[in-house]
Amino acid sequence: YVLGYDISTTATKALLIDQQGTVVAIGQASYDYATPHPLWSEQSPHLWWQACRESTQEVLAKAGVAANEIMAIGLAGQMHGLVLLDQAGEVLRPALLWNDQRTAEQCEQITARLGEQRLIELTGNRALTGFTAPKILWVQQHEPEIYAQIAHILLPKDYVRYCLTGEFASDVSDSAGTLLLDVRSRQWSAEVAQALEIDLAWLPQLFEGPAITGQLHAEAAAALGLVAGIPVVGGGGDQAANAVGTGVVAAGSIALSLGTSGVVFGATASPIIEPQGRLHAFCHAVPGRWHLMGVMLSAAGSLRWYHDTFAPQLSYDQLLEPAEAVAVGSAGLFFAPYLTGERTPHPDPLARGGFIGLTVRHTQAHLTRSVLEGVAFGLRDSLELMSQAGIGTIGAIRASGGGTRNRLWRQILADVLGAPLVGVSTTEGAAYGAALLAAVGAGWYRDVDQAVAATVRLSDPTEPSADQARYAELYATYRAIYPALQPLYP
Ligand code: XUL
Repeated sequence: YVLGYDISTTATKALLIDQQGTVVAIGQASYDYATPHPLWSEQSPHLWWQACRESTQEVLAKAGVAANEIMAIGLAGQMHGLVLLDQAGEVLRPALLWNDQRTAEQCEQITARLGEQRLIELTGNRALTGFTAPKILWVQQHEPEIYAQIAHILLPKDYVRYCLTGEFASDVSDSAGTLLLDVRSRQWSAEVAQALEIDLAWLPQLFEGPAITGQLHAEAAAALGLVAGIPVVGGGGDQAANAVGTGVVAAGSIALSLGTSGVVFGATASPIIEPQGRLHAFCHAVPGRWHLMGVMLSAAGSLRWYHDTFAPQLSYDQLLEPAEAVAVGSAGLFFAPYLTGERTPHPDPLARGGFIGLTVRHTQAHLTRSVLEGVAFGLRDSLELMSQAGIGTIGAIRASGGGTRNRLWRQILADVLGAPLVGVSTTEGAAYGAALLAAVGAGWYRDVDQAVAATVRLSDPTEPSADQARYAELYATYRAIYPALQPLYP
């Protein structure tokens, strides 16, 4: 057996798979994050380690597996979070999380210090408030007494790795989300670190996703109920690990995950960088591969808001069913899905949503359909950028997440994206991907491609229909909405 962990924003999940790749049991322990000020989002790293212990004990008890049958551990987790440790390895302050928005000023400073083009050339990305580097600058400027004690900087899952092994290590997919990685060479960028006054010695040693970064030490083994000496592999950021778990590893393959946020993830064989940094360009958790990623902040989150605000008494099925009878294009009604600002393709925390084109002829069913269509159009923006950046022919898109369970939304997505949508047999996402990376590290498979080929099965294709052409016309109108409204936002 091998163990995969996902240290997410709301819970830590421990997942045990056997040598066939079958999920044997799952343990989970939840926690909250704090918002002590507007725009802030923080979490104590101690919560992750506690949840790691609890979820491990739960998964072992459920599986009835002996500790000495576990051969390796893989880690995935929420990306971009800033964990600061002192010389003794003690946590200096709560971690600043990926959804913390306090660093707009620091993002401007980073862009000014390096120049936007140079920053994108080196790191593959522009400075976004969610990323790690601007958070370090914020601490330098607002908490100098903490900054003065920094000896180690880690990402969330790598703090758990430190608790497990005592090593300061990370993998390249997660590290790409710091804005400190030279995404082409898969090494820390001395140029960026120097410009931001970040000591390279603070940063962890880098590994590939399936590579062994260290061994479980005796104290951690006792706390978890495992055997000391088990190898711990690099793992990945949650998005890259999820791509491994759903088999999106071959260059040109695309995953769509439709949760609160919507992510379009495309694997690449070389470091393709979107010249304006509108897509994230990160290393993959697969050695020698990279990925492009578009993130829509309110995807299924838009539908949830719409449901909770206008039809809380209905089930989602009851709400969506009448929208099937509405013709393509919702009789001229468009929905802009920027309810919580946007990342891709408009990196604009102040972008705002809207219904555009309302008339007295529109019913609730029209509004419902336009929400589904608007989210699909927004996701197409990411796919378009990937095509323009040279990702190659788009084949079937692997769809996961609650939003893709609805038949109508799947059909609208297939039509708007202009590609078949397929489901995957492996639904445990990032934790499953972390387990597969551990399985490769344990030598069960030659490489990640073989692990994926042996475990991930495709299902339920939804083909684009004759409506595809009409949606292509409507998409042109959708694209004109953000530039038209942008000057009106605060
Ligand atoms: C990726 C991102 C989120 C976090 C939280 O860029 O911000 O997926 O990793 O899960």
